[in-house]
Amino acid sequence: MNVKWDANKYAADFSFVHQYGNSVIELIDADKGSSVLDLGCGNGALTKVLQDKGYLVKGLDSSKELLDIAKEKYPDIDFMQGDATDFTLSEPVDVVFSNAVFHWINKDKQHYMLKCVYNVLNKNGQFAFEFGGHGNNQKIHSALARAFSEYGYCYEMPFYFPTIGEYATMLENAGFGVQYAVLFDRLTELKGENGLKDWINMFVKTPFSIVKTEQEKEIIVDKVVETLRNDLFMNGKWYADYVRIRMKATRV
Ligand code: BEZ
Repeated sequence: MNVKWDANKYAADFSFVHQYGNSVIELIDADKGSSVLDLGCGNGALTKVLQDKGYLVKGLDSSKELLDIAKEKYPDIDFMQGDATDFTLSEPVDVVFSNAVFHWINKDKQHYMLKCVYNVLNKNGQFAFEFGGHGNNQKIHSALARAFSEYGYCYEMPFYFPTIGEYATMLENAGFGVQYAVLFDRLTELKGENGLKDWINMFVKTPFSIVKTEQEKEIIVDKVVETLRNDLFMNGKWYADYVRIRMKATRV
């Protein structure tokens, strides 16, 4: 994952990402005092929720910008900078939790991340997570691919959105037992009259590295927004066509 975050805009306009994460926390079945790693903790909003539930928490993220915010807001939480596909902890934990992170990791790197998670979990430790599942933001990515092609570019899909079958197999190959898996649609309201444009500018960065000028990028984004207005603009609000994969597994 190699994204430079606009941490302030992220906190101001995309707080739905961690608000939805609250229901993922409910998958955790552990006593107060259990140790929990928030993997890809971002600005620490969910790490704090986990702490308030009585867990002994740590947060790990690759983004210095987001960690600076996390450390300033929650100075008593242990936040570390690290790569989700190459990390270890000084002590094993009872639970690894993650929200809205794994789609940023390439398919061929997922097994490195799963190995790290396995290695930091205690035996019978829980692994509870949600991220973008198969079909996530299909309308948005299809419209981007069409617009790129119209301007002579090839749109390289920057995310990994697996099916339950594919991801359960990866988990089992990494030594986990899968207890729970669900894939569901979640049409998600975006903030503001430029909600979709802002979403694309915030999250879809790497495909635009091949676009020659900022002006052309803006033309492409505007075109995408207009083609999606019929589908994703309803009653004065923009929505993104999210699909979530939510799972719970145990280190056996
Ligand atoms: C997601 O949470 O599914 C997601 C967010 C931003 C970009 C891609 C996926």
